[in-house]
Amino acid sequence: MEVQEAIGSRRSFRFLLPHKPVELEKVQKMLEAARLASFWGNVQALRAVVVHRETATDEVTKSLFAPVAGFQVDRAPVVIVWYLEFQALDEQGDRLKELVRARALGIDEQGALDFLDKTLIPFFEAAMPHIKEGAMTEMDCGQGIAQATLMAIEQGLGTCLLGTTNQDAIKANLRLPDTAKVLCLMCVGYPAESKEAGGQRPRLPFGEMYKLNTYDNPFPRDEKVVDELKAARMIQAPAPLPWRQAELDYLQKALDLPNF
Ligand SMILES: Cc1cc2nc3c(=O)[nH]c(=O)nc-3n(C[C@H](O)[C@H](O)[C@H](O)COP(=O)(O)O)c2cc1C
Repeated sequence: MEVQEAIGSRRSFRFLLPHKPVELEKVQKMLEAARLASFWGNVQALRAVVVHRETATDEVTKSLFAPVAGFQVDRAPVVIVWYLEFQALDEQGDRLKELVRARALGIDEQGALDFLDKTLIPFFEAAMPHIKEGAMTEMDCGQGIAQATLMAIEQGLGTCLLGTTNQDAIKANLRLPDTAKVLCLMCVGYPAESKEAGGQRPRLPFGEMYKLNTYDNPFPRDEKVVDELKAARMIQAPAPLPWRQAELDYLQKALDLPNF
């Protein structure tokens, strides 16, 4: 699948086949994609525990809980628990030095290492309390999760991210370190719904979201570009497709789902 079509097909799949196992090799490819995503200072704080329903204990699966449309967690063959490892932030000086040695950062190797020791690492250490509040680090975790999502779509899988309020129970039952913060649960499986999953979900108007130079100047949206992206199947037909309700009625019976 081309990248553009993968982006267009990337939607939340809330209905997964509970009986069709997901090959761990496919999950591995998702994790490999997440691992390669960019991260500030190369700190790589995004981590995951893959919960594989076939082999996980009840203690582990029962701690997974999501308050919104949580039926998904009970049925997904795989749930990836994505978490942020704050300990990784304390090792950022080592990661920066690795970048210099890999010749990704700086021009002269020794000069760059000296600059790190004298200037950059002390700067980051001083800013660490602010950095640990999260924003940029959590954004970078999102980049990795997004790459894993695209890899799932590429392999014919569907995913849905779920927020969870069960931080403490998940940390205890999955034996995560104290320095971990659970970010979200990702249900993974083969979609039980059609690949359109009802069509492209609504988005706010392009010009309302994106601007050129100043806030009062909407980024000009060229219709020729839109048509090109439609032809590449990145921009797909809007939801709901005419047969969506019939599909939802069918899924409700097949998966024994509540009305919400
Ligand atoms: C971080 C995050 C958390 C989410 N949590 C939930 C959730 O708890 N329950 C749910 O049904 N969908 C959840 N979603 C899915 C969104 O509601 C979904 O992305 C939205 O409906 C748009 O659909 P799309 O992803 O197909 O474009 C979550 C999505 C993200 C990115």
